[in-house]
Amino acid sequence: MRSTLLSVLFYGATALAISTADSYAAKEWPIAKAGLLANIGPFGSKSSGAKAGLVIASPSTVNPNYLFTWTRDSALVFKTIIDQFTSGQDRTLRPLIDFYLTAQAKLQQVPNPSGNVTTGGIAEPKFNIDGTAFTEPWGRPQRDGPALRATAIITYANWLLDNSNKTFVTSTLWPVIKLDLDYIMNRWNQSTFDLWEEVSSSSFFTTAVQHRALRQGSILAKRIGQTSAVAGYDTQAGNLVCFLQSYWNPSEGFITSNTGGGRSGKDANSALASIHTFDPTAGCDATTFQPCSDKALSSLKVYVDSFRSIYGINSGIAANAAVATGRYPEDVYFNGNPWYLTTAGVAEQLYDSLIVWERQGSLTITNTSLPFFKQFAPSVKTGTYGLISPTFYVLTSAIKNFADGFLAINAKYTPTNGSLSEQFDRNIGMPLSAQDLTWSYASALTVINARNGITPASWGARGLTVPSGACQSNIGPTLQVAFNVNATTQLGENIYITGNLDVLQNWSPDNALLLNATNYPIWSIALTLPADTVFEYKYIRKFNGVVTWESDPNNAQTTPGSGPYVINDTWR
Ligand code: NOJ
Ligand code: NOJ
Repeated sequence: MRSTLLSVLFYGATALAISTADSYAAKEWPIAKAGLLANIGPFGSKSSGAKAGLVIASPSTVNPNYLFTWTRDSALVFKTIIDQFTSGQDRTLRPLIDFYLTAQAKLQQVPNPSGNVTTGGIAEPKFNIDGTAFTEPWGRPQRDGPALRATAIITYANWLLDNSNKTFVTSTLWPVIKLDLDYIMNRWNQSTFDLWEEVSSSSFFTTAVQHRALRQGSILAKRIGQTSAVAGYDTQAGNLVCFLQSYWNPSEGFITSNTGGGRSGKDANSALASIHTFDPTAGCDATTFQPCSDKALSSLKVYVDSFRSIYGINSGIAANAAVATGRYPEDVYFNGNPWYLTTAGVAEQLYDSLIVWERQGSLTITNTSLPFFKQFAPSVKTGTYGLISPTFYVLTSAIKNFADGFLAINAKYTPTNGSLSEQFDRNIGMPLSAQDLTWSYASALTVINARNGITPASWGARGLTVPSGACQSNIGPTLQVAFNVNATTQLGENIYITGNLDVLQNWSPDNALLLNATNYPIWSIALTLPADTVFEYKYIRKFNGVVTWESDPNNAQTTPGSGPYVINDTWR
């Protein structure tokens, strides 16, 4: 009796999630498509003033002001557009793609606070919508942007090659792609702000998308006979995939998002990396953290669970059912809320997994992924389950339902007109922050496609291995920098330095580096810094446990290409 009742409840809930997801997918698709197109210049109805091919992040101009064009958001949006075009889903998008190519070729050349085209400007995160540089302080550089852009354009280039347009690829697309690839090859190991623009260190998402871009770039380069840099791309792709493994936290079973930042490390970063490096031919390979790999699934569970008790709207939801998820549990931006694109990202990782399991006709549970699978069948054991086994059926049905549940959450908190903001309130579910976020619309389109079994093109992830031997990670050029600051101190008081680079301890007063007073009142320290890099820093005083910072603004410097380099400051 009891179990009958439970199963009626279970199937009732299942049917509800499926039908909600069905109707959400049907209704949201055209709205998301129109919402996305409205935010692209020059014709988009909500993006007036944006140059041709430039994507605005959102029309919101106050609290927050998102009327800028971000390289990351734009590349993810255009990857969605390019996939729809190349797959034949929508052939009308071609003129827009050509606008994007022209716009990005220009942006690459615009000198900006990260540098110029040869000194690091390629990884500037955002520009004004008229295509000029954005010169205010910002978390820069963000080194995922060039990689995501290269991936979008390479996808288009491959389609053009398949359709006999080699000249255009070689003469027009390749120079743009090559600038991004060379940038990654030369600088992937330098500090970067993460995709949330907050932490300067190394970041899983960035490493994963850089790795993907170099692999695709190498394949494309060979295809069009532009092989001068291929050896370098291949070597650094090997180093990237090697470094990628280091983010895995084996004791807690999740992918740590950033090497810096001092947070738990549980972050949508990893689910987003999985879906944006999904290769439907790569199976459930954990080397590239494919969506259905044991590591990516384990990480997904840890990430999702971190939001169960912190958001009011998740309270009362069963421990194995879908909940609203945000960027990371410690988030305080707008008070820290669920995001549409992260909740959709969870669903997308699950749909991608289902596609692969069904195509390969089996599903494997390892010790690493066991906790993930146990959510759906508490007594399930490690092993491989084929298409005809009841376990395969039970698990894939439950996971489909789980995935639909995340879409149902987004559906529940989407206003009836279908518009998607950036966030929704953690306690009452009301839309928050930037309205009509282009990336939210793109995430709705990609998750709906994944739910319908539509996959993006392969990028060559199949069978990739980690090169044997130690990872080589010190590839970026560095130089010796001497910091001297004239500071009068009292006995027992010391001068330290910290700033926005790894070696400067990422603004940590606790870990700030002690200068020496051999030439008092000049305090000095010599450090090895990345070349051609913009960075900010301050000196601090510590006396009897009390920390005093230099007054604002931060000191800013750009290291040259080679050293030595001397910086002489006076305490202020
Ligand atoms: C704006 C960034 O875009 C956002 O990601 C960040 O959380 C806030 N600034 C606060 O740093
Ligand atoms: C803030 C997000 O954290 C960042 O990822 C995004 O690029 C910008 N907003 C613009 O949408």
